[in-house]
Amino acid sequence: MGVVTKMFNKIFWSAVLSALPILMFARSGGSPIRRTGAPIDGGTDCSACHRTFAANADPRGYVRISAVNYTPGKKQTVRVQVFHPEAARWGFQLTARQTRDESLKAGVLAPNDNVQVNCDTTPASNAPCGSDREFATHVVASTRNGASGLATYSVEWTPPEAGTGDVVFYAAGNAADNGATNGGDRIFTTSLRISQAAALARPTVSNESGVALQGFGGGRNIAPGSWIEIFGANLTNVTREWAAWDFAGVNAPKSLEGVGVTVGGRDAFVRFVSPGQVNVQVPDGIGTGPLNVVVTNEAGASANIPMTGVARAPGVLAPGNFNVGGRQLAVALLSDNTTFVARAGEIAGVTSRPARVGETITLYLVGAGATNPAVPAGTVASGTPVLANTTVRFGDAPATVSYAGLAPGAVGLYQFNVVVPNVAAGDVRLAITVDGVAVAQTLTTVVGN
Ligand code: HEC
Repeated sequence: MGVVTKMFNKIFWSAVLSALPILMFARSGGSPIRRTGAPIDGGTDCSACHRTFAANADPRGYVRISAVNYTPGKKQTVRVQVFHPEAARWGFQLTARQTRDESLKAGVLAPNDNVQVNCDTTPASNAPCGSDREFATHVVASTRNGASGLATYSVEWTPPEAGTGDVVFYAAGNAADNGATNGGDRIFTTSLRISQAAALARPTVSNESGVALQGFGGGRNIAPGSWIEIFGANLTNVTREWAAWDFAGVNAPKSLEGVGVTVGGRDAFVRFVSPGQVNVQVPDGIGTGPLNVVVTNEAGASANIPMTGVARAPGVLAPGNFNVGGRQLAVALLSDNTTFVARAGEIAGVTSRPARVGETITLYLVGAGATNPAVPAGTVASGTPVLANTTVRFGDAPATVSYAGLAPGAVGLYQFNVVVPNVAAGDVRLAITVDGVAVAQTLTTVVGN
């Protein structure tokens, strides 16, 4: 027994000793500074040690920085996302510099539970860094040992003072194999340049404002769950679409970058913001009849945009590039999910052929109204929420609709799977109704042999 204990102790201690040199270089608890690939820091990245693959060699993976133009004094969350389909452990490093002199830090990066901030001192130290350059990096917990899928690191950033000029972020990401060594890991690098945002003024809205999504036919009738495109000026000073982190579970955000929109006094769900255009999803409970749409940013509220609430305002996806040969084709996808229904080659950049009798094609709609079970506006649909009482005709011939309802995984997007009825080859008019309400667009599709 005594001998066994001694043996154990000997193996134990020698294991610890042989591990020591590795522990000294251990990087899963944060990466050594100056490894973002920033040219001013020598252009080196994590692949200095994680050498199995060259940096950025695998097109299946990436590192991405998300940040918006900055307003001095207004903190924002900068996000670094790292992805590779085979990775099972993650790490990153981020630095922010002034473009007028990239040796100067730009603003301040704040540490949090998942992120440490190291200062460019010898030896490296921890934030606060004063005027020293900063490197935000993972901590052991946020390497997400064993977790696959996208890794997102959020770092709160206080922008520099007014007049600093453009800022550039450099980031490196490690999509690691969870081997607890520096082998077998894939390194990616990127940079993102942002500017100081223009000062915000009260939003103004233009006449065409308020048209429901134009690619789906437009119009001023809106239904719960349908979409509005608002055009104008000074709507905001940044441009971005909603992202996964804007959702609370399945619930979409009611404001983005300080921009909110009310429809009949109720908060809409904000999908896209930019200085000249904002897209929102209409909330539930707007009732029927005249109502006002109002955009608000941090400087104030816009004028009213008059619109009309209805129960259903179905519109089929049929954008301008599907308007060819003097007719508006509906976007209809064949079951291979890549070929569209049209004469071969008639839509630039799109693979197409006529649909065959008996084949199932998929159409996309918005604004089709309530489903069963009901899915509240502003939530990601799941299951099979179906629309009752839908009809699709090819000319005079009724088609079998094998599915009409919300597209699972999407917000406010409907999908109709339709079996092409027995009609003569050629152009044919598509007519669609949802619970007695007809799609207002004049739409064509193409049937062949
Ligand atoms: C000076 C060499 C060195 C540099 C530079 C370096 N690492 Fe490492 N890294 C290591 C070593 C050694 C290990 C294995 C020991 C450990 O896990 O700590 C490791 C492990 C890791 C792991 C765990 C890998 C796995 O498969 O389990 C991650 C994640 C990681 N590093 C991220 C980074 C990132 C991100 C950078 C660049 C910003 C970086 N490292 C730069 C030496 C380095």
